[in-house]
Amino acid sequence: MRRGKRALAELVAIGLVVSALGIALALAIDWFPAAASTQAGPIDTFWDVLLIVSIPIFVLVSTVVAVAATEFRMRPGQETQDGPPIHGNTRLEIIWTAIPSLIIAALVIYAYLVLHEIEKAPAKSAGEMLVKVTGEQFTWHFEYPQAGGQAVKSDQLYLPVDRPVRFEIVSKDVLHSFWVPAFRMKIDAVPGITTKLRVTPKRLGRYPVVCAELCGLGHAFMRQTAHVLPAAGFDAWLSKQKAAGAAAPGAAAGGGATAADGKALFASTDLGCGACHKLADAGTAGTTGPDLGQVLAGQSAAAIRESIVAPDKAIAKGFAKGVMPQDYGTRLSPQQLDALVKYLQEVTAK
Ligand code: CUA
Repeated sequence: MRRGKRALAELVAIGLVVSALGIALALAIDWFPAAASTQAGPIDTFWDVLLIVSIPIFVLVSTVVAVAATEFRMRPGQETQDGPPIHGNTRLEIIWTAIPSLIIAALVIYAYLVLHEIEKAPAKSAGEMLVKVTGEQFTWHFEYPQAGGQAVKSDQLYLPVDRPVRFEIVSKDVLHSFWVPAFRMKIDAVPGITTKLRVTPKRLGRYPVVCAELCGLGHAFMRQTAHVLPAAGFDAWLSKQKAAGAAAPGAAAGGGATAADGKALFASTDLGCGACHKLADAGTAGTTGPDLGQVLAGQSAAAIRESIVAPDKAIAKGFAKGVMPQDYGTRLSPQQLDALVKYLQEVTAK
């Protein structure tokens, strides 16, 4: 059995080396997706600080456990003996209460400062943009209010780079949680109240939008994409959406719904049919819902229409009710619905 100051000094030296190695390893690991917002910086730094603080504590605790289990273990012949009675050591107890308290207090203050920084309102001149987010089983909707005009609606999130955004989030049904991991920010969508979130995208690209609250059977499929565009690209997208809102495919004057309109609708990011459904003609390969080439083959227009507006009435074998959104009947205009049915009937005909 090693005893005395020398053994202790050795342990401390080993602990320091292991802690340093552990910290170096932890900091070398790429924990998160790309940092795509200005909020990501302080959050990632905070994470690094937590690693730096907790690794030496982990090493200390494991070392004490290991030394106690090897140096002070029960040996043959000692089975019936009791250990020495232990009395309090006031100085030690004060030290081991005070140090953790100080560490926790420092981290709490630091966390508060980070939270304050990432949630603070940007300067008026930054031109913060409002995006309304609605969660429902099992999709997100985004709305861009336009001064003196109709709001632009989209089922994919488009944002300009370097412009602060304020999200206002509501839910139509149950709890969801609006999360763009690359932005690092996340907040629940709660029925009955509006929650808020601020983000300034700072990196171009496409990032997953996910739901982070178990909300039903289709929870795992409640995924969309955040497109961060250059300011000019975003403006172009917005004006295109405004124009499209005024003249959506199939809503053109004259009202003659065509299969070509239906094909455009099927492919549009607003509906995103192909994200869940395989359809050879559209070149999509989604597997969340059934392969439309199989389940719609030879179906009447009325049956196809019903599959879109009331998807739970007839469910293909191997698939579950309640996964496909129930609101296509209200999201699509009658002309759009006609066009989509026409298209689907045409390309799945036997
Ligand atoms: Cu919505 Cu999980």
